[in-house]
Amino acid sequence: MRQQIILDVDTGIDDSLALLYLLASPDAQIVGIAATAGNVPAAQVAVNNLAWLEVCRAPEIEVALGAPEPLAIPLRTTEDTHGPQGIGYAELPPPTRALSERTAAEMWVALVRAHPGELIGLCTGPLTNLALALRLEPALPRLLKRLVIMGGAFNHPGNTTPTNEWNVHVDPEAAKEVFDAFSAAPADRRPLVCALDITETIEMVPKHLTLLAERAGSVPAEAVSEADHDGIRSTAPNPLVRYISDAVRFYFEFHRQYDQGYIAHMHDPFAAAVALDPTLAVTRPATVDVELTGTLTRATTVADWAGVWGREPNADIVIGTDPAAFFDRLITRVGDFARAVYPPVERKAR
Ligand code: RIB
Ligand code: CA
Repeated sequence: MRQQIILDVDTGIDDSLALLYLLASPDAQIVGIAATAGNVPAAQVAVNNLAWLEVCRAPEIEVALGAPEPLAIPLRTTEDTHGPQGIGYAELPPPTRALSERTAAEMWVALVRAHPGELIGLCTGPLTNLALALRLEPALPRLLKRLVIMGGAFNHPGNTTPTNEWNVHVDPEAAKEVFDAFSAAPADRRPLVCALDITETIEMVPKHLTLLAERAGSVPAEAVSEADHDGIRSTAPNPLVRYISDAVRFYFEFHRQYDQGYIAHMHDPFAAAVALDPTLAVTRPATVDVELTGTLTRATTVADWAGVWGREPNADIVIGTDPAAFFDRLITRVGDFARAVYPPVERKAR
């Protein structure tokens, strides 16, 4: 039974892996993609998703352009983290597919109204367009089957300021409007929140790329090493393996540059895996709010675990998972998908 997903992304290297994970998952059907400004401007996010869909030979899936700016502040992007186009060193063929006529917020509202109680929302970028959709349709929390958010940091340092996580940092007003809107939702509609506390335990290493390429039947072996000089491009014969390797290599280099090792935090594909199978996550309810006026702490997500604010919980925060189990799924699903889309060319016996 395919679970229908609305995907809201700021693609993004790890957003790309989330998209591929969903396209590769037999239990997922993406019904719409909202291109949200974040890692790169919304228009580039949209192009990246159209391009990935095309190289994956995916069915026609609506890609809708999000707002150019956050709700209340100018857009901040991070090309140093995700590359000039937002997909690291990968250079995807320019897409021929067209953007949707409607905006991302309009798409959100139309889809949840058309499929009440059936759709899973997955947000792996700033919450700008979900907030705009909630302004158009306040009943959205009850019209969604489930919402999964990659964002925030609770008992864990930020990755953008000492306390901010990137997606919330870009649009803190939107994050607050979303968490406030879900305060009135029933307990079984509370967003599942994958914050840095858990996603920074999801560390991709070069071996994972080698295993994925092997699973895809891409020969010779895809060998990415921290000894490589920066900017090497993959020569994998399987195009998806090549593009994934080129995208992730940029992310490895970025994490090393910030003393985190030659690794890549797979924030977004982990959130995608949880969206399809919440049993991957151990969660704990809390009341979440977002600081908007702190001099040092603006855009910080705060979790009231003990109910001292006297407000009902509005989130289920992921506090535990098995990273190895996640990587097994990612490698198996995306590796098999890459093999299916681009079958290995049988080498003639000499
Ligand atoms: O903080 C990590 C998040 O910010 C990820 O979703 C990454 O893609 C960026 O959007
Ligand atoms: Ca993202």
